[in-house]
Amino acid sequence: MTEAAALAEIGVIGGSGFYSFLDDVTEVAVETPYGPPSDSLFVGEVAGRRVAFLPRHGRKHHLPPHRINYRANLWALRSVGVRQVLGPCAVGGLRPEYGPGTLLVPDQLVDRTKARTQTYYDGEQLPDGRTPNVVHTTFADPYCPVGRSAALAAARGRDWEAVDGGTLVVIEGPRFSTRAESKWHAAQGWSVVGMTGHPEAVLARELELCYTSLTLVTDLDAGAETGEGVSHQEVLEVFAANVDRMREVLFDVVSGLPAAGERDCLCAGALQGWDTGIELP
Ligand code: ADE
Repeated sequence: MTEAAALAEIGVIGGSGFYSFLDDVTEVAVETPYGPPSDSLFVGEVAGRRVAFLPRHGRKHHLPPHRINYRANLWALRSVGVRQVLGPCAVGGLRPEYGPGTLLVPDQLVDRTKARTQTYYDGEQLPDGRTPNVVHTTFADPYCPVGRSAALAAARGRDWEAVDGGTLVVIEGPRFSTRAESKWHAAQGWSVVGMTGHPEAVLARELELCYTSLTLVTDLDAGAETGEGVSHQEVLEVFAANVDRMREVLFDVVSGLPAAGERDCLCAGALQGWDTGIELP
């Protein structure tokens, strides 16, 4: 299928641990004007809400962070009806108190990526031949305040006291930071470091989608630890050890989000006043 309307209202971009256990999942392949998303969408029901799951790195985990087609991913979600997106991701802690197993719901973002397309409005002729377009979205507060509150409440309800706020710095990857880079990130006052949170959040804003980041600390980053540096193996192990409770929290967040059509946050009106040149799906 190429496009479907209102198959889902909430999107989750994360690992396969978030959808593979659902009994009644429909796989929906979506094409976008920006090329293929990371994978099909897996649509199912959680707490009476229709949810579309998208494996960020592809179901075989074959896409490194810098090769993910972020534009196609957000577009695909919107095209099946999604208006609120949850973006769980693994991060490194930049402070000793944010050790492995910490759940932090950031309220700020720093972009340290280098080569990622981070807008739909790049002034070029669109694939379907329409006119060029330029939009400057407000992004002072990159995350949906309603989604953040729902995430914090859900974590609390599962006895997982999440850190409320903090800055996620997103690096280009795929390598981890050097100790000097990591210490510099920490010295700026930033909280956690990851590789996928950007441009996911800004592209969501450009499509008037709510976006909430839930970061799971899998390691202390190089500047905050005294060992041999971050290894991919430890990231995988800590992620695997926390995937069940992360999934429980996510599912509770889903039930705590506003109903479709009842969003009253800034995200829902992010394009007001702009002649975008793009017809959103
Ligand atoms: N993802 C998980 N741990 C990370 C780290 N230390 N740096 C960047 N991305 C990460």
